[in-house]
Amino acid sequence: MNKPVDFPMRDLNDENSNTSSNPTFDTVLAARLSRRSILRGSLGTAATAMLGGLGLSACGGGSDDPASSGTTEILLGFTAVAKSVADALTVPSGYTAEVLIALGDPLSNDVAAFKNDGTDADYDKRCGEWHDGMEYFGLSATGVRDDASSSRALLGINHEWVTQTFLHPNGPTPAPRPDAEVIKEMQAMGVTIVEIAKGANGKFAYVKGSPFNRRITTETEIEFAGPARGNNLLKTKFSTDGTKTRGTVNNCGTGKTPWGTLLTGEENWAAFFARNAGDNDLRSANENVAFARYGKSVTTSTGSNHVYRWNTAQSGDERFTRWNASVTGASATDDYRNEFYCQGYVTEIDPYSATAKIRKRTTLGRMAHEGAAVRAEAGKKVAVYMGDDARNEYIYKFVSAQTWNPADANAADRMAVGDKYLDSGKLYAAKFNDDGTGTWVELSLANPAVAGYATYTFADEGDVLIHARLAADAAGATKMDRPEWGNLNPVNGELYITLTNNSNRRLNPTGSQVAPNAANPRTYSDVRGGTTVLNGNVNGHILRIKDADPADTTFTWDIFLFGAESDASPVLVNLSGLTDDQDFSSPDGLVFTKSTGLCWIQTDDGALVDESNCMMLAAVPGAVGDGGQVTLDYGSTTVTTRMGKKPTATTLKRFLVGPKDQEITGLAETPDGKFIFINVQHPGEDTSAAEIADPSKYTSHWPGNAGYGAGGANARPRSATVMIYKNDGRRVGT
Ligand code: FEO
Ligand code: CA
Ligand code: CA
Ligand code: CA
Repeated sequence: MNKPVDFPMRDLNDENSNTSSNPTFDTVLAARLSRRSILRGSLGTAATAMLGGLGLSACGGGSDDPASSGTTEILLGFTAVAKSVADALTVPSGYTAEVLIALGDPLSNDVAAFKNDGTDADYDKRCGEWHDGMEYFGLSATGVRDDASSSRALLGINHEWVTQTFLHPNGPTPAPRPDAEVIKEMQAMGVTIVEIAKGANGKFAYVKGSPFNRRITTETEIEFAGPARGNNLLKTKFSTDGTKTRGTVNNCGTGKTPWGTLLTGEENWAAFFARNAGDNDLRSANENVAFARYGKSVTTSTGSNHVYRWNTAQSGDERFTRWNASVTGASATDDYRNEFYCQGYVTEIDPYSATAKIRKRTTLGRMAHEGAAVRAEAGKKVAVYMGDDARNEYIYKFVSAQTWNPADANAADRMAVGDKYLDSGKLYAAKFNDDGTGTWVELSLANPAVAGYATYTFADEGDVLIHARLAADAAGATKMDRPEWGNLNPVNGELYITLTNNSNRRLNPTGSQVAPNAANPRTYSDVRGGTTVLNGNVNGHILRIKDADPADTTFTWDIFLFGAESDASPVLVNLSGLTDDQDFSSPDGLVFTKSTGLCWIQTDDGALVDESNCMMLAAVPGAVGDGGQVTLDYGSTTVTTRMGKKPTATTLKRFLVGPKDQEITGLAETPDGKFIFINVQHPGEDTSAAEIADPSKYTSHWPGNAGYGAGGANARPRSATVMIYKNDGRRVGT
């Protein structure tokens, strides 16, 4: 979710707690940069060869390219979908999109069909709300893991928030809240594991009653793993030895390991904690620094509310009061003062086993996690790339202590493989130089800048991971424009990471604002709907990072694409030269399909929404260094950046536009590339509880208005997973 400033209550990613003095590079912008035109020429050839290896032709070479004609599939051979504000989901001609599973659909046979009138309960047995990141886990005909299966699989689906308006008959009851309402909300979030299978009609359906189906919710017991397990900061009344907690919350982006497990990112978990007025007075100075850095400071006069007020549930049961991270008891093991430290991790789930322990991998740091992109190459260390989504936060990389043994991909005990690779290693944050290079700065007490940090004293290595943001401040990481999903180009291992937007990027920054730098070079104004002025990096960009080896501590980078409106200034805003068939704003989800090598870009936007609902585009990726340098002349100053080769009409196309008031997120594909699955998150989210009695006021009725489920044209909107296939049976994206 990514609402602009006129929607402050829900604009939780606009949290801006990074007040560190880390450099923003405006002081070093005059340094020289060198072009890479030689590389550009050679990479064109390399890209053609790589795509040929995937059995495809890139049509980026133009109509005179012999590879673009003939009988082979043509990448981006579809006609671009036009921008639209209709309450409908649109895919290119020749494609079909159908809902596979939506909010509330029964996972087990012992719950009733979803009525979609606010009276449904038992969400621990139904598909959850606000579908987000998603991964595909193949199943054989006999029901065991089979990575090659394109006919039967498990989907792991994240559920980020709930739309309270529609989850209850008449919207949410104000605090103190009825237990039953809170339980519905707690159970509608988390993760869904659901079996899907291809039927006789050649299409997928979800398998109601499958023994694989299950929900992981904000109440599921989860273990801590890695250096912070047992740390003093993780000790609570529930786990006096600091080894476990309850729940994973605000599950946003995902990752998939080569050993067949799901990684789920806990993003805006901080919003789910209350703190009492005056709690700062009961904490040490160090603790108060930590709370403030994670956006949860309070004063003697003002508490901090839980976004949904779960902590106010009327029974006062600990199931609910644990969401109040305040000093209320005699010691840390007598209350939930430390519960705040128990969320904010990448959590690993074995989708194939309901009995395998679920583990929070503390090595990957505590932050507002988006996805977790795993790079595993034989004989090399395993890298996991991650974004921390809030204004001016950082990009992170974990590097394993162990080198990757491909035999581990097929181990029976998948969580043990996770233990081997994800519990020991080093965490880094990215520092970008203005010359197209960068450094991964180490976040550990071995780094003198971390060990000697004046602002916060780290007790131990577990504390460094629990307060990774503070360690990254100390180590001098670069403040970014809200890092969202990152994923790896399967051809060359380069990371593509979305920087969705930043309303706090300014030429003349004040307060918590920061100046543009080479890796975050744009700040400008845009008008939405002729009235609302948006400032900063309004439309976001997509950055690329090239680590020659996964364990490298130096890298090269450039900017793959700049989001923009097609008619925006070509020298300050629409630097990528996006056309009407390509323009987009606020990239968020980003996934490569291995079958085609295409890069899919999904938007969560509040700036271009007067012209189009959120969307998904397909791009033919290039390689870091395939473009050149670009200088933005702001008059008072200039900023020089590195930009990839500009897209052409045949390397970037809009593939899909979603219904109203939603975002497109999550993408999984069958190994044969013939089906993709995407998520439509929170259609109609801006409908207020006061409008619930009048369906004509709902901002969306999708997918009921498309014939799915109860309600028809007046239906309450539902988040949903959509299956997309090409009618001629060829791969999606061709
Ligand atoms: Fe869950 Fe930052 O998007
Ligand atoms: Ca989002
Ligand atoms: Ca505009
Ligand atoms: Ca996101």
